[in-house]
Amino acid sequence: MNSNHRSGRTLGVTAVCGLAAVVAIIPAWVYLIAPVSAQPPEKSSSADKDAGGSDLYSYMGAASCSGSACHGSTTPRTKLKIGQNEFFVWSQKDRHTKAYEVLQGPDSKRIAHNLKIDKPEQSARCLVCHAVTVEENRQGALYDVTEGVSCEGCHGPSENWLGPHIRKDWDAKKAAAYGMYPTKDLAKRSTKCLSCHLGAGRDQIVDHELIGAGHPRLKFELDNYSQAMPAHWQPPKEKAARDWMGSKAWAVNQAVALRDQIRLLTAGRKGRAGLWPDFVHFECYACHHDVVDHVRDLNEDDKKLQRWRVRDYGGKPGRLVWNASSYAVYRHVVNLVAADQAKVFEQTVRAFHEGLTGKGGAGENLDASLTKLADLTEQLVQKVSQYSFSQQSVAALMRNISGDGHAIGNAGFQAAEQAALALASLYDAYNDALGGAPESAAVKEGMDALYKEIKDGRSFNQVRFEAAMNKMHGVLSKG
Ligand code: HEC
Ligand code: HEC
Ligand code: HEC
Ligand code: HEC
Repeated sequence: MNSNHRSGRTLGVTAVCGLAAVVAIIPAWVYLIAPVSAQPPEKSSSADKDAGGSDLYSYMGAASCSGSACHGSTTPRTKLKIGQNEFFVWSQKDRHTKAYEVLQGPDSKRIAHNLKIDKPEQSARCLVCHAVTVEENRQGALYDVTEGVSCEGCHGPSENWLGPHIRKDWDAKKAAAYGMYPTKDLAKRSTKCLSCHLGAGRDQIVDHELIGAGHPRLKFELDNYSQAMPAHWQPPKEKAARDWMGSKAWAVNQAVALRDQIRLLTAGRKGRAGLWPDFVHFECYACHHDVVDHVRDLNEDDKKLQRWRVRDYGGKPGRLVWNASSYAVYRHVVNLVAADQAKVFEQTVRAFHEGLTGKGGAGENLDASLTKLADLTEQLVQKVSQYSFSQQSVAALMRNISGDGHAIGNAGFQAAEQAALALASLYDAYNDALGGAPESAAVKEGMDALYKEIKDGRSFNQVRFEAAMNKMHGVLSKG
């Protein structure tokens, strides 16, 4: 991920909200006078099982949130629990404000040309992730598609809660009843981010066709990406509540990512649309790498390109390699959090893997293992969400992950990438909670070395990655 953000810009929308403007545009202002009842308004929101949130209410646009007395302060304030500068942070620093604009740029034009799409900025195929899209009768007065991924893209349509959500007695229960998306719930938050950063079903996906046309490969990790956004929310003030927040966000997101990858695979299989499984479910660089196809008269550089000299084949050689980026690192969380289920988890994944890459993915066994894995991964999301991390468990996780460089490197570049992001996130939390951890200079050096290994999939080298992980493991085992 590129954390060096290109400079933001002020949105083209006029930031007129202010309290007066809110009165003008929200008839629901009356809520400010009457206490909010926990009864939902007339239109009832649909069950919010996935990332969808309410599918009934209207979207009012980011300009409705931008008043300086609302979320548009240019500096963080301390009067309320929130900083009130959320709009400012988002509009000035967050790439999500550019999500629509990039659809009008030269890269998108070329991608669209390759896909034979006329105008990417009007294509549902792109807008589903690059903007907040909604049918016309749910577009509020200030709704503006060009805002990109704006407030309501994550917080849900605000028609009903825009007025009442500033009341003192506003709470999570009321928020749910009024159609606000529960971003505080880490599993729901992950589901929301991943709906765009991994994909969610056949109509919201960056498949290999899109990638072949030029779309960047999607990758994600909640803790690092939240910081890079950057976060426009405040960490809890009390140390006890703040400690290990990042570790929990990381772990829950791992759990959700595997569950949602399985869901994506299943949705694609049911639809039987074209090629299944789509190539994005496999390790990119298993296909996209140089090979040297003979053994005589080789120099040492040629030999380095022959991965079979160092690889352990989980299955059989010469098969597709599953994109195990949501599994290879996550299995360490399962070992920690749900030791009693770890064995059945490993077995189920193995059966699924064999079905996916072994016999061409056609058998009934694959359907059975997909169903089993769907259930199991959902159960594990619940378990991980309830787990309380501690100094001891985070230290153990860091040691276990860094000590597993061989298997993770074997799983491929995308798994290696997740390992580096995991260690960065875990160590950050560790360091924060301890107010400066021992060996931090050596860890930083180790992190830099790991980041170098995952900089570019093309030049990924399993042996070097493993060595960097081993070194990190040595440092982390000292502390
Ligand atoms: C499943 C959601 C999804 C869909 C569908 C999707 N994108 Fe994206 N797109 C993303 C995400 C997420 C990123 C950012 C990736 C990152 O940086 O990690 C992105 C990045 C991009 C970028 C690079 C942006 C930059 O900063 O340079 C371009 C260009 C792009 N998308 C164009 C398109 C076009 C054109 C379409 C439709 C043909 C499309 N996208 C469909 C999610 C999606
Ligand atoms: C990409 C997703 C995303 C976008 C876009 C987004 N938010 Fe957030 N927002 C979050 C997440 C995640 C949190 C942290 C969880 C929480 O506190 O609800 C959060 C937290 C907040 C909070 C703090 C809530 C609290 O109780 O501490 C406010 C206020 C807020 N957002 C307002 C906004 C506004 C205003 C916009 C648009 C200008 C916006 N957000 C855009 C994801 C998003
Ligand atoms: C509605 C779809 C959508 C949702 C939901 C969403 N994103 Fe994004 N995100 C995008 C798109 C599209 C881009 C690419 C924007 C661009 O480059 O112009 C992006 C870019 C980013 C980037 C910048 C990446 C880079 O390479 O610089 C970060 C960080 C990020 N998102 C984090 C998050 C987090 C954290 C969440 C959840 C709290 C989230 N996103 C939710 C669509 C989404
Ligand atoms: C099963 C093998 C396989 C896997 C796995 C695979 N690809 Fe491909 N990829 C191909 C083939 C075949 C083509 C078409 C080559 C052509 O048209 O010349 C292709 C084309 C492409 C192209 C367009 C050609 C180019 O050089 O611009 C890109 C980009 C690409 N793949 C990226 C990826 C990424 C990123 C992943 C992982 C998310 C991935 N591929 C996974 C086989 C694969």
